[in-house]
Amino acid sequence: MRKILVIGIGAGNPEHMTVQAVGALNRADVLLIPTKGDEKAFLADARREICDRFLENARCRILDYAVPVRRADGSYEDGVNDWHRAIAAIYERTLLDDVGEDETLGLLVWGDPMLYDSTLRIIDHVRTAGRVAFEIEVIPGITSVQALCAGHAITLNRIGLPVEITTGRRLAEAWPGTARDALVMLDGVEAFRRVEDPEADIWWGAYLGTPHEILLSGRLADIADTISETRRKARAAHGWIMDTYLIRRPAPEAEEGAA
Ligand SMILES: C[S@@+](CC[C@H](N)C(=O)[O-])C[C@H]1O[C@@H](n2cnc3c(N)ncnc32)[C@H](O)[C@@H]1O
Repeated sequence: MRKILVIGIGAGNPEHMTVQAVGALNRADVLLIPTKGDEKAFLADARREICDRFLENARCRILDYAVPVRRADGSYEDGVNDWHRAIAAIYERTLLDDVGEDETLGLLVWGDPMLYDSTLRIIDHVRTAGRVAFEIEVIPGITSVQALCAGHAITLNRIGLPVEITTGRRLAEAWPGTARDALVMLDGVEAFRRVEDPEADIWWGAYLGTPHEILLSGRLADIADTISETRRKARAAHGWIMDTYLIRRPAPEAEEGAA
């Protein structure tokens, strides 16, 4: 039976690779690496660096594939579904053409596969199509959320309080949401600028775990402009940016004291 190993590789620092992830990398007969655009070039390089550093299986074949472009016309959901199916077709072809019946295909997933990543959904498309049988094994990785909290030396949640993990688009539409604390990813719209609470605090991080890491924190109202300016300059310097942040609104007294 063929096998797919979905390996969380951490969020930017090769040293995020766990011992389990290194072991899994070395069990793969084929590794499939996506390439595309400025940001993806960085991500592909990061994956290659991980292979250079940790891959000891000299017989492992490393294959590149160009990530299909997502259609911008039609509905967002349709565009994403078509895009996933196009990637599923690449996984399927690779399994059929390049991975022997008892061999293992490794997919290196940024951060952890359970967090804002579609690899597992795409693999489900391949399974549902039913043209190739395979087992799947997931190796957890260090997420950008962990890298952010470690960078600032903070906990994600306050005692007894929930944290909403959301996107920039959702935050912009739905602030204030149900949770007082929001962990925001995939923010292409600087949604933190829409948060009007004068007492909100922010812990912001870009390029976490990489040599370009930037960390800023403080009262949101005081540093929102600095974050915007820092983002603008960093994006101009590197050609792309990936950032994540935690916003906290003051907790009601009763809840704050709860264990
Ligand atoms: C498609 S999601 C992938 C998340 C990933 N699976 C994880 O576990 O962190 C991409 C988003 O994750 C966040 N992200 C990932 N890596 C990051 C990094 N090194 N620094 C800052 N944010 C990062 C950004 O919010 C980015 O828009």
